[in-house]
Amino acid sequence: MLTSSSSSYSNSNCSSASSSSSASSSCVQVSRDVQQQLVLLRLLPDSPGLQFPEIWLRDNCQCSTCYMQQTRSRLPQGWNYLDPSVRLQQLSWCAERQSLQISWSDGHKSSFPLSWLKERDFSPANRALYLRDTYRPEQRLWGGTEFQRIQREFLYDELLHNDEALLQWLHQLAVYGLALVKQAPLDSNVLRNLCNRVGFMRSTTYGDEWSVKAQPGASNYAYLAAPLPLHTDMPYFEYKPSITLLHTLQQSESPGGWNLLSDAFHVADLLRQRYPGAFKVLSETPVDWADIGSEKNLRFHNIWRAPVINLDANGRYVRINLSIPQRDSHFSVPAEQVRPWYEAMALFMRLANEQACTFKTTPGDVLTFDNVRMVHGRTGYDDTEQNIRHIVGAFLDWDIAYSRWRVLKNDLGHYNK
Ligand code: OGA
Ligand code: ZN
Ligand code: ZN
Repeated sequence: MLTSSSSSYSNSNCSSASSSSSASSSCVQVSRDVQQQLVLLRLLPDSPGLQFPEIWLRDNCQCSTCYMQQTRSRLPQGWNYLDPSVRLQQLSWCAERQSLQISWSDGHKSSFPLSWLKERDFSPANRALYLRDTYRPEQRLWGGTEFQRIQREFLYDELLHNDEALLQWLHQLAVYGLALVKQAPLDSNVLRNLCNRVGFMRSTTYGDEWSVKAQPGASNYAYLAAPLPLHTDMPYFEYKPSITLLHTLQQSESPGGWNLLSDAFHVADLLRQRYPGAFKVLSETPVDWADIGSEKNLRFHNIWRAPVINLDANGRYVRINLSIPQRDSHFSVPAEQVRPWYEAMALFMRLANEQACTFKTTPGDVLTFDNVRMVHGRTGYDDTEQNIRHIVGAFLDWDIAYSRWRVLKNDLGHYNK
């Protein structure tokens, strides 16, 4: 790397300013990488440097002309006449104010506090830390045999009254995609209360909450006593609800009614390793997901076209779509893509079933899981006159849940640990 402490570098007029040649431990060395147009800060003589692109520093000037403290946002004036040719002219470190001082070729001056700079350092280690600690925690994928190790239980009352417990629940959901809430009362406020603790309940064409009960003449396949194969909820929505909550009010005393859950990101990983061709087909072939009918007197006609395995530009999983009953018979792809899709899907379903964990919730349990990542289902059951299985469902969204996770982490001091 070509580093220069040339004419563009100067000490500030702060009395205790230090230069790049100073060796004192309280000093900060500032320099430029002229070729890459980076400002480099070294806090200790042998420590790795902090790095900042010069044009980014100009864009993020913290003065009151460029930045509005009260709204915590960049002011747009500079962008009306954005001049990317503006260059750094003078650079210095003010030891007294612990800040970086810069004069620009357009005559503007900027000052950046060290604490602000440290949090935004572009070095790979700091960016990785920010993504893990503030953006989203790293997901840990798991197979069915690891269920006992990864599963965690939370007490309903604690979630309502203890912020640390609330944070741990959201963290567990984010990392493992599954968490069981225990000892909720058998009343109709439970899901509303939990969702309100996080933020807002997510409404859909099924309203705010829906009731899963075996009903003769049911209009939704889930409302039968039949086995419900592994699926994600509402794959036929572009913005499908991303966290599902299922409150067990009454469980079946028949041998059935067991929950099935499988980490479909893990299943996709297995498919990618073992059958790369099938993986490619499932991540590239759009499928027509549909739900047509009515609920609570509202008629709906929902369709969303997307593959089973949805990847981002870096090949990372963004979403799984799956539901046998809610896959449309319209399949709007060229005919020659159809058979390969069925063959790939058969492999995916086999792996998803092999990797599923099973358990049976009891009344007062609230099963919560990531509906973007996990597939879930249940075994068939029988109702009797005295024992009618009854589950109530509701949704949350990850945007709301991650926001709450970050605010809680901040308020509870987790960023300083
Ligand atoms: C559903 C569902 C699970 C169950 O209705 O979508 O997944 O245990 N129900 O009945
Ligand atoms: Zn400014
Ligand atoms: Zn479901």
